[in-house]
Amino acid sequence: MNVPALSQFRRIVFFTGAGLSAESGIPTYRGAGGLWNAYNYEDYACQRAFDSDPDKVWDFHDVRRAFVASKEPNLAHHIIADIQKQFSETVVITQNIDGMHQRALTADVVELHGSLWRVRCEPERQVRENFDLPIARKCACGAYLRPDIVWFEDQLDHRVVRRAREALEECDLLVSVGTSAVVYPAADLPRIAAKGGAVTIEVNLEDTPMSPLYMHRLRGKASEILTQLTASYT
Ligand code: OAD
Repeated sequence: MNVPALSQFRRIVFFTGAGLSAESGIPTYRGAGGLWNAYNYEDYACQRAFDSDPDKVWDFHDVRRAFVASKEPNLAHHIIADIQKQFSETVVITQNIDGMHQRALTADVVELHGSLWRVRCEPERQVRENFDLPIARKCACGAYLRPDIVWFEDQLDHRVVRRAREALEECDLLVSVGTSAVVYPAADLPRIAAKGGAVTIEVNLEDTPMSPLYMHRLRGKASEILTQLTASYT
């Protein structure tokens, strides 16, 4: 693999998507077997759907929570956590909502699209972790809880985006793993690292619209490519 050794870098950013969790048995969103091929997001993953039928939206999310809870972080999640242990300034920015990075013991994960494992009470303006299966859908105040997920047409949390931008501005190595790079504004963020002069690596099974941005385009399963990358620790 013609990629500089990881030990040459101090500030590594991993930018991850659903392909990272594919080897845990969690389907991606697009492509063969993709979640949005089987389900219409307008019925399950947007504010309008929640406002018109919160129980239908919660049924969908309850099933997803139970499904994801039944899966385990895979080797690729563990390798990223291990790299963070070795290189303490490593930052993980993820589009994933599955909580797998945290379960692999990665710290301070920047979750651009929220989390399946947090809920919001909008009237009380409160966000809480919640791992209950199935979940009590209503808050003690009587209002429906809402999954703390950035659904289609929602705005990203500007504080989360700021953290991501800062990490990308400061990094000297960006490794993007398993994202189709078609969902904006997330897809655009890796540009910041490239502009700042970082070495850039894209790990994916196939090319994406953002591939031309990357210096190194490594094709294959995340766990296999990351295993090869860690062979260059020293
Ligand atoms: P996608 O499903 O759009 O893309 C997954 C990418 O992972 C594709 O480019 C695949 O080629 C690649 N891939 C699949 N298996 C892989 C493997 N084993 N190793 C390496 N790469 C692999 O997922 P995202 O780009 O994450 O939003 O999707 C972005 C957003 O769209 C998600 O965050 C989600 C969705 O709507 C929310 O959940 C809010």
